[in-house]
Amino acid sequence: MTLTIAVDGPAASGKGTIGRALAARFGLGYLDTGLLYRAVGRRMLDGEDPVAAARALRAADLEAEGLRGPEAAEAASKVAAIPEVRAALVDFQRAFATREGGAVLDGRDIGTVICPDAPVKLFVTAAAETRAARRFRELAAGGHATSFDEVLADIRARDARDAGRTDAPMCAAGDAVRIDTTELDVAAAVTRAVAEVEARHPGCGAG
Ligand code: DC
Repeated sequence: MTLTIAVDGPAASGKGTIGRALAARFGLGYLDTGLLYRAVGRRMLDGEDPVAAARALRAADLEAEGLRGPEAAEAASKVAAIPEVRAALVDFQRAFATREGGAVLDGRDIGTVICPDAPVKLFVTAAAETRAARRFRELAAGGHATSFDEVLADIRARDARDAGRTDAPMCAAGDAVRIDTTELDVAAAVTRAVAEVEARHPGCGAG
């Protein structure tokens, strides 16, 4: 059986770090689905219609400059509330999820909408202040001029938009395991996630 791991959660919760670590640990493919929405958001900022952009999305769009920055993040959260944009991105994500060799996908609706049958689902959270502090450090290290308060306000606005939209809102699947990383460093969070995968999918721990 193909192993699919769904990792959902809010911005800067550590879901990307955990997702990448699980993919490396278990030899699975990894897809950061936020990047798809960021690429569509980027194209909207460049003047394109977001639905047309989502339908025409190409692998090269995922390499566009600045996709990891706050401007693309906010645009991503806005286009992600448009049902036609989400619909245009479903097939690609599901095809990735069922690829030979297995996959880890991280996002907001992986366990609820994209892969409701995934055998392992994690919902990674952390206090908003902790997430803002992490994001602020990353942005400051990358030379972005911003303040902690601004980053915290952005994170809260994005959480509210992502959790409040009608179509595929961010939420934990009923059978997801919650991992709160507020008090965990990267190594502890990854150890916890690996243990959850091994508990739910015995046999994939060898290697
Ligand atoms: O994971 P991220 O911060 O890169 O995601 C950027 C935005 O994209 C996020 O605010 C909401 C949206 N998104 C989504 O709606 N569904 C996903 N599966 C992934 C991201």
